[in-house]
Amino acid sequence: MEKKDLDWGSLGFAYQKTDYRFVANFKDGKWDDGELTTDNNVVINECAGVLQYAQTCFEGLKAYTTEKGDIVVFRPDLNASRMADSCRRMEMPVYPEDKFIEAVEKVVKANAAWVPPFGSGASLYLRPYMFATNAVIGVKPATEYQFRILATPVGPYFKGGVKPLTLRVCDFDRAAPCGTGHIKAGLNYAMSLHAIVTAHDEGYDENMYLDAKTRTKVEETGGANFLFVTKDGKVVTPKSSTILPSITRRSLMYVAKEYLGLEAEEREIPFTEVKDMAECGLCGTAAVISPVGKIVDHGNEICLPSGMTEMGPVTKKLYDTLTGIQMGRIEAPEGWIRVIK
Ligand code: PLP
Ligand code: COI
Repeated sequence: MEKKDLDWGSLGFAYQKTDYRFVANFKDGKWDDGELTTDNNVVINECAGVLQYAQTCFEGLKAYTTEKGDIVVFRPDLNASRMADSCRRMEMPVYPEDKFIEAVEKVVKANAAWVPPFGSGASLYLRPYMFATNAVIGVKPATEYQFRILATPVGPYFKGGVKPLTLRVCDFDRAAPCGTGHIKAGLNYAMSLHAIVTAHDEGYDENMYLDAKTRTKVEETGGANFLFVTKDGKVVTPKSSTILPSITRRSLMYVAKEYLGLEAEEREIPFTEVKDMAECGLCGTAAVISPVGKIVDHGNEICLPSGMTEMGPVTKKLYDTLTGIQMGRIEAPEGWIRVIK
């Protein structure tokens, strides 16, 4: 199979139309079989539930080319089950988890020419998503839905690749207690747009959200969880019921303990502790691990000792091990890597 003629190394995180996407429809209480299509447009009713009341959720995962030349996807079972959780919370029909994985495989296989080559630093980003398609005008769940998976080749999420980021502590809240912060609902991202635009306008790369109830504990950013390294070398990550349970974060905590022999702990992190941390990173499918160099809290600067030029040493080990597992250079734990045949 001949690869597309792209400058893989200079891809950013942007949409590009690829050849195939998967589409399935839910109607009369059941999902149809779904199929691949070349049509990248969606036509829905003007009053569709997604357009009026934002009834939509999504996922994100990546396909890679390994050193051996296999095409693999990373832990798609966890995306399938998290999407099922999102659907249940949003009163949407679950797309069966085994069918989700099959659909991921179909999309990757059909777009094999778009999977970036090993060593390019790029990957094929997969975006499964579901939305309410039939007309609703009273506030209630729709009865018809579409599930799709699109694929687009991507490079680093943050411009500058692994250059440390500057964050601001955000005055907007991302997620309410007992709200939807723990699922991947489109609405969480819609309401973060003003916060990210104003952060960028003020020269910051991202927002650090604190818990909405007390504004004292670290939550996450608009699109990634936090990992910190303490001065005594422990990896810590916020525990909260209002953040997204990141698959990358869960994987990194395992890598820290089982591959690197580090202590790793998920616990509440008071913001007042951040000034004592040695390293900080953002982790997620898109972000991978992006180092944080500085956090600004209303004019007070916290400069992480790891500095503004490179990743901290522990963050770097985590990054190298995780990407090594994803790219097939390091043996993966059972079930983490799914080879697309
Ligand atoms: N937090 C938010 C708000 C996200 O959108 C994402 C991205 O999916 C993450 C964290 C990281 O999750 P994952 O590692 O599963 O991609
Ligand atoms: C992902 O990492 O897959 C996400 O969905 C985060 C988004 C901000 C791109």
